[in-house]
Amino acid sequence: MTHIDADVLIVGGGIAGLIAAEYLSSYKNVIVITKFSAEKSNSFLAQGGISAAIDKEDSWVEHLLDTMKAGHLHNDQEMVKHLVQEGTQVIQTLEGWGVRFDRKDDGSFMLGKEGGHHRNRVVHAGGDQTGKKVMEALIRRIKDKVRVISHQYAVDLIIQNNRCTGVYCKNEEGDSTFIHAKDTILAGGGYAGIYDTTSNTFGSDGSVLCMAYRAGVELSDLEFVQFHPTLLYGSDTVGLITEAVRGQGGILVNSKGIPFMEGFHPLKDLAPRDIVSRRIFQEIHHHGERVYLDIKGITGFEDKFPGVIALCNKAGVSLKEGLIPVSPGAHFTMGGIITDHTGKTSMAGLYAIGECANTGVHGANRLASNSLLEGAVFAKAAAHSVLSSDNSKMSLISFPDSETSPKNFALVEELLREEQVRSIMDQHAGICRHQDGLAKAAEMLQLTTWKPQLINEPLSVIKRLNIQTMAWLTLTSALKREESRGSHYRNDYPFPQTEWEQKKIIRSLWHDES
Ligand code: SIN
Repeated sequence: MTHIDADVLIVGGGIAGLIAAEYLSSYKNVIVITKFSAEKSNSFLAQGGISAAIDKEDSWVEHLLDTMKAGHLHNDQEMVKHLVQEGTQVIQTLEGWGVRFDRKDDGSFMLGKEGGHHRNRVVHAGGDQTGKKVMEALIRRIKDKVRVISHQYAVDLIIQNNRCTGVYCKNEEGDSTFIHAKDTILAGGGYAGIYDTTSNTFGSDGSVLCMAYRAGVELSDLEFVQFHPTLLYGSDTVGLITEAVRGQGGILVNSKGIPFMEGFHPLKDLAPRDIVSRRIFQEIHHHGERVYLDIKGITGFEDKFPGVIALCNKAGVSLKEGLIPVSPGAHFTMGGIITDHTGKTSMAGLYAIGECANTGVHGANRLASNSLLEGAVFAKAAAHSVLSSDNSKMSLISFPDSETSPKNFALVEELLREEQVRSIMDQHAGICRHQDGLAKAAEMLQLTTWKPQLINEPLSVIKRLNIQTMAWLTLTSALKREESRGSHYRNDYPFPQTEWEQKKIIRSLWHDES
């Protein structure tokens, strides 16, 4: 058993984790742990870009309105204001840190357009490789200042007098490490990887949310899972075709060549994601159609979308006919650990930032390219909060394991296999949901037996427990929300209900009644 001490422990090496590390590194001893490596995070895969009202014709108010509209008014307006007002600053900061965003010959930013935006406001780098370019710059930036420990799976929070004082983690070889920290920042991503059809790496299993849940920290909005309209559909769904392709004139058509978004929504192919995904779902499942992205009208496709070309080549999909076969899949999760505007959670000493957090900015459906922005904005806020709190006198004491573990861990003797859980989620908690399927699936995944000391279990069991817990929380939250709103669509409650507009379903192990 290895013990390590840090001032600040950051769990997760995506954009939010590394930006927080960068801000903190001059003042604190910071450790970042990652499940795989920073190069394997979902942030690295982000194609579209970072939305920012940077154009002189644009304004943060317009960005706010588009964000609220896409989120079906389930958003926290003050948090959205905080988010969009920071857009320009985020871009300037990242440029200062070495990210070369794409610019026109006259020096102005090339601004892309994506679903739900009424203006071109998506700043991008390397065409469709924004995540990669931003992450490479951040990795270079923190390389000599921050200790990054790769291949560590965070298992549970260490809790001392109701305060989080670090994390127990484990590697694939089964070695356990206790990392004690005065402040812990969770930046471990979301849970779209609990679906089989997903744009994410399967590492997005919601493990940091489960860890927080087991410790009694409050989570909410777990029923809101965003399905991206256009995953590449080869022999299987194999990666994302960025919405920026539609921003450049790509059109969704069915096998008969009919552009089915025409006349369906005023923004047509660039309607918010929940709307486009549901329309594609209808086309595929109700009309028995195949769906394609028609890219024939896009000039200079190769230069604009090198990542898409590489993905299609890898999947053996020919672009000769100018048609990319697509299908929707789980992409982003709006639900997460409830935080305030500085990333503080309901537990002292514990912050959450990025996709694992529920700041309230995305509402019931995230506006395209607001996720890297959220990661950057709240990472900075959390870092500032850590720096302004006076933990310098706090001493870290190593406690016997039994005293520091959360009291209960759910563990069934016969956990389902991860692929079984993913297939259940695809079948019953996808784009269109219904009470019967949700209830049946929740029953299949119900956790019944409780057992302490999760850190002593094999990593394979811990991973299976997490995916099952996360799936069960998503299903039961979806059952509770008896309406349709944004990404949460129920056939049995097909309309939004005003009383649910701002209502959140809050989950925490210690006062969870489902
Ligand atoms: C995309 O490029 O379509 C995805 C970007 C995002 O999720 O905002």
